[in-house]
Amino acid sequence: MPSKQPQPQQPQSPSRPQQPQAQQPQSQSRPQQPQAQQAQSPSRPQQPTVLVGVTGCIATYKTCEIIRLLQKAGARVKVVMTPMGASFVTAETFKALTREPVALEPIDSHSAPIHHITLAQEADVFLIAPCTANTLNKLAHGVADNLLTTTALATEAPLLLAPAMNVHMWRDPCTQESLGLLRARGVQIIEPEAGLLACGEVGEGRLAPIDQIAEKTVAEFARARDLAGKRILVTAGATREQLDPVRYLSSPSSGITGYAIAQEAARRGAEVTLVSGPTNLPDPFGCRVQRVGSALEMFVAAQGAFAGVDAAIFSAAVADFRPETRVERKIKKDTNLDADGSLTLKLVQNPDILATLAADKGSTYVVGFAAETNDVLAAARKKLATKHADLIVANDVSNPALGFGSTHNKVWFVTAQGTEESALISKTALARVLLDKVVAAL
Ligand code: PMT
Repeated sequence: MPSKQPQPQQPQSPSRPQQPQAQQPQSQSRPQQPQAQQAQSPSRPQQPTVLVGVTGCIATYKTCEIIRLLQKAGARVKVVMTPMGASFVTAETFKALTREPVALEPIDSHSAPIHHITLAQEADVFLIAPCTANTLNKLAHGVADNLLTTTALATEAPLLLAPAMNVHMWRDPCTQESLGLLRARGVQIIEPEAGLLACGEVGEGRLAPIDQIAEKTVAEFARARDLAGKRILVTAGATREQLDPVRYLSSPSSGITGYAIAQEAARRGAEVTLVSGPTNLPDPFGCRVQRVGSALEMFVAAQGAFAGVDAAIFSAAVADFRPETRVERKIKKDTNLDADGSLTLKLVQNPDILATLAADKGSTYVVGFAAETNDVLAAARKKLATKHADLIVANDVSNPALGFGSTHNKVWFVTAQGTEESALISKTALARVLLDKVVAAL
């Protein structure tokens, strides 16, 4: 967690949408030519919005004071409650404190038609304090049975949980397992304290001190604006090198990594251009997306967006080679063959997009990736130098559970100064950590 001060008044990126918009899944058939899609318009409120989730626990009264601290730090606070939360402190209290409507029921006829989605999109940070064992275990397993849990599932904002519960509920293997799942997804757990609990038992489970909860939340929303005014280029996904109209050379890259980076950068205020190979993923919210097919198309699109960006992150799995000729009609088994019945393909090299653009990078901070199956670090260090990168994110793609197409990854951050190994983390968390490094470098 970076110890930055909140920056509530920073100017917004012009690329943030005026209204939260539901994402449309993209068709799998992508245009062959690069096409600029959906340059998004301004803008989110200048003041960061902290959505505070309140669940049913005796510590709920402390949430009132946490809200005051967040407001003092410059946040606009909105509250979403579970029905049990409302039985400890009423929605009226939170409404008076925040001067905002309090979200309580799954369907609220007085608010936006899809309430959990609008709440989810408005939030720069989602803090749940106190978070009961019930809600914590539900969140770990994607249960969405009230407005709070539904919103938590829908939001892309960083999620912070401040649990409070009985010591045995905290120590229960089910709760501990859920904590592990949540942490691996990048959820920040503000650990409860040990002490005398409301039930009379002694042990862990007391809500963390309120100033600590407020401090961690403030640090998170400072981060939520730390790329404001910056321009970032991200490449993502695989390229497709067509052999004929129905066959191509490619890799199993899903685009998850690059899309997570683009989404996180846009959420933190950057103006993001995402140049993407074909994927099944919807456009990340608030990014300018250019969909391309081949490496040559990706090169043209990335080159067009590269000039003047503050950082460029090349996570795409670009095919190093393409067939020398693309056959216009489908290759048949009885044509285009050699005398012995085999088919000979001649492959020619594609341009190295990263190396070419970074050779003339000026002050742009350049991040490359390295997908390796052996000698990972040695190869990454070599790529750092030969591709003129400032940072290489190296991953071992020989493990089918990591790298290509997975939700999690384990990487090494390689710079001229040294190497740092990450834990096994979600690609969303990886995007967050990587952008912390970019922010530090900028
Ligand atoms: O998309 P996911 O399913 O989430 O998978 C993520 C990933 C495995 C694709 C990602 O973690 C990753 O490793 N991306 C880089 C893949 C790759 O092509 O690595 P490479 O070692 O071959 O290339 C090194 C660097 O040069 C990369 O930054 C690559 O984008 C770039 N490159 C490579 C060749 C080329 N012709 N042009 C390039 O720009």
